[in-house]
Amino acid sequence: MGICKFVSVILIFTLFCLPISIYSLSSTELSEIPTNFLNYAQKPELAKWMVDVRRKIHENPELGFEEFETSKLIREELDEMGIVYKHPIAVTGVIGYVGSGEPPFVALRADMDALPLQEMVEWDYKSKIPGKMHACGHDAHVAMLLGAARILQNHRQELKGTVALFFQPAEEGAGGSKKMIEAGALQNIDAIFALHVTARIRAGSVSTRPGPILAGCGMFEAVISGKGGHAAIPQHTIDPILAASNVVLSLQQLVSREADPLDSQVVTVAKFHGGGAFNVIPDSVTIGGTFRALSKESLVNLMHRIEQVIVAQAAVNRCNATVDFFEDDLYSVTYNNEVLHQHFINVAGDMLGAERVQDMKTIMGSEDFSFFSEQIPGYFFFLGMKNESLRKFETAHSPYFTINEGVLSYGAALHASLATRYLLEFEALSHLSKRNVHDEL
Ligand SMILES: *[C@@H]1O[C@H](CO)[C@@H](O)[C@H](O)[C@H]1NC(C)=O
Ligand SMILES: *[C@@H]1O[C@H](CO)[C@@H](O)[C@H](O)[C@H]1NC(C)=O
Ligand SMILES: [Zn+2]
Ligand SMILES: [Zn+2]
Repeated sequence: MGICKFVSVILIFTLFCLPISIYSLSSTELSEIPTNFLNYAQKPELAKWMVDVRRKIHENPELGFEEFETSKLIREELDEMGIVYKHPIAVTGVIGYVGSGEPPFVALRADMDALPLQEMVEWDYKSKIPGKMHACGHDAHVAMLLGAARILQNHRQELKGTVALFFQPAEEGAGGSKKMIEAGALQNIDAIFALHVTARIRAGSVSTRPGPILAGCGMFEAVISGKGGHAAIPQHTIDPILAASNVVLSLQQLVSREADPLDSQVVTVAKFHGGGAFNVIPDSVTIGGTFRALSKESLVNLMHRIEQVIVAQAAVNRCNATVDFFEDDLYSVTYNNEVLHQHFINVAGDMLGAERVQDMKTIMGSEDFSFFSEQIPGYFFFLGMKNESLRKFETAHSPYFTINEGVLSYGAALHASLATRYLLEFEALSHLSKRNVHDEL
């Protein structure tokens, strides 16, 4: 056997059998970490504490970049645990550090903001702020990351590097992750993980996929101007209602006729305002909506064509149109790194059993986690809450949204296990995942 052949056999062996070949821990010891952490997180003391933290945050919901009390609560809990942190990052953001203080660094992220929505659930810990509610589960995300902080701090001697705990402001449309990146949050971070609760899959299960998991997203608003007048004398007017109606129909042809049927895209007009009387043709109509795609290229292409179609179609009916794309608010595609996907499957499988780690289809919703995962290897997954024997769980952004507090332990243990195992398996994972960073966006 020549030396080259021997080296390549070793290389192949290392690529496929890493867990056995290079760690100081045996593969059995590695695979026991997630179960041990779950047992720890399910102990009544930690589980109940997470529920209490979550309820405190739920009672006092704060909107994007206004999470002052939430941020204070997080810092008090970190102080209590003896975890050092940076604050403020992006107004209210906090980054805690657990472990050796040395590289490698792996980040776990929880978002902190609530929604401008009146809670309709009657329970002891209902939102005390009229018109604001944690209806997306970010209160639970914070509680789970604090739970992970306690698990990690308790096992800090075993951490082969540092875990950075990202408590992020303003996920719901105000660009909190972008601001954290601008503040240097990702410096030295090798990989980042985040989870989102979902009512669509069973409690104790997770769902995810490699590659694009959530869409890139943009918004548009167009003002279509004509010339108002008497509804009975249309020949003296330029009717923007008719022009805007034709615009809405023409926009539907972008996805049906111009997009590759295998490259998922959405154009939705969700807003149509014009007129106020039965017998008056208005001067103008305002329409608005969203567009989604699974690559930057498709997203930018949609944006250009939406503008062209609106302006040109309005002109067919003698109207003028202006289109605003709020370009600062364009969301990137949330892309799951393939190597971190394998890591997740291993860790979650060890904890939950392979049958409770489910594949999912890409969802055309968006997440500002995308801005993290376009800079460094990132991974996003969903944690199920559904349990028919408890009650029906509404989907996110409903005023009837509730959390299955029984799943907080799973989230905390998954966070802690993903980070701990990432640091232990760093040599292999970082080498492979960096090469794999999605460079399209
Ligand atoms: C669902 O709820 C029931 C009743 O509380 C509980 O016994 C069961 O363990 C829950 N299932 C899961 C998967 O959490
Ligand atoms: C459209 O814009 C042109 C150029 O500014 C202007 O002359 C025309 O009156 C406008 N038409 C309407 C319907 O506003
Ligand atoms: Zn949301
Ligand atoms: Zn959310």
